[in-house]
Amino acid sequence: MKERIETMISAEAIGKRLDEMAKEIGAEFEGESVELVCVLKGSVVTLVEIAKRLPMPVTMNFMDVSSYGDGTESSGKIKINMDLDVDIAGKNVLLVEDIIDSGRTLSHLRKLLLERKPKKFKIMTLLDKPDRRVAEVPVDYVGFTIPDAFVVGYGLDYAQKYRNLNFVGILHFDEE
Ligand code: IMP
Ligand code: MG
Repeated sequence: MKERIETMISAEAIGKRLDEMAKEIGAEFEGESVELVCVLKGSVVTLVEIAKRLPMPVTMNFMDVSSYGDGTESSGKIKINMDLDVDIAGKNVLLVEDIIDSGRTLSHLRKLLLERKPKKFKIMTLLDKPDRRVAEVPVDYVGFTIPDAFVVGYGLDYAQKYRNLNFVGILHFDEE
């Protein structure tokens, strides 16, 4: 099987949308600073690109989580592989996601971070695949709502590849 990538959202379109989102987010947090929280690894590119466009002071913070057993074992728990190195209590937090699919990971992560009592807690995602949603999560800023397809690029990977593409594309497997 040969992997082929079909452009879904161009670099230009992503850049334009992020400009718009940065304006909205900037208005929300006007005059205040924000802790950006990146969920590794897929959100790295979006975090950097939104950070570059935001008008207020921000810090960049990283965490790595994995969800316990997909399918039947989905007990409502996530495992923290690497936690934040800042206390977010009383701080403004913007959680930056690459894509929301089932919503399971994000829903658990949201609960966990809210327990830490941030001042304001908002979620942004570059992509949203609502057709596949299992766990409802309130998302404050959505870049693009996309149909149910497997996409790569702009941080998103297939077997760790394609994260560095500057656009979002659908991954196809063609017969050789
Ligand atoms: P969920 O919302 O808990 O199902 O998990 C979302 C995570 O699954 C994302 O952060 C991605 O790492 C991964 N994911 C979901 N859909 C895609 C896709 O189309 N391409 C690449 N990774 C994806
Ligand atoms: Mg992710």
